[in-house]
Amino acid sequence: MITGLSHVAIAVPSIASAAETLARKLGLMVGPIVENVEQGVRLAYVDLGKARLELIEPLRADSPVARFLERNPAGGLHHVSFNVGDLDAALAATAEAGARMVGGRGHNTHGEPIAFLHPADVLGALVELEERRT
Ligand code: CO
Repeated sequence: MITGLSHVAIAVPSIASAAETLARKLGLMVGPIVENVEQGVRLAYVDLGKARLELIEPLRADSPVARFLERNPAGGLHHVSFNVGDLDAALAATAEAGARMVGGRGHNTHGEPIAFLHPADVLGALVELEERRT
């Protein structure tokens, strides 16, 4: 069902500030900032070859990421994202296995279908499933 690791996501209060920190402390280059209005976030990525680091900054005060930053003002690990070949089939399988979807279905900035699984059902970690058919 899961075909690979898409990205690990860190929520930050400022992508610009996070990019400066990653460059200075880890030598990592952060790509351009993109907005996902549907998800209420601004995003930027560090390409790590087979997977990426995702930086998330809230676009709206009522977004789930904004609430996460209220609890973690300096930022923190937010979710891990796995690729699946067929999101519908993956969600049916995870629901059957007792991992509930949280927040409804959405899309990433490439228009690929995504969904999140409830942390309480998966080791306390927020899991994103991202459909990629290639
Ligand atoms: Co993500």
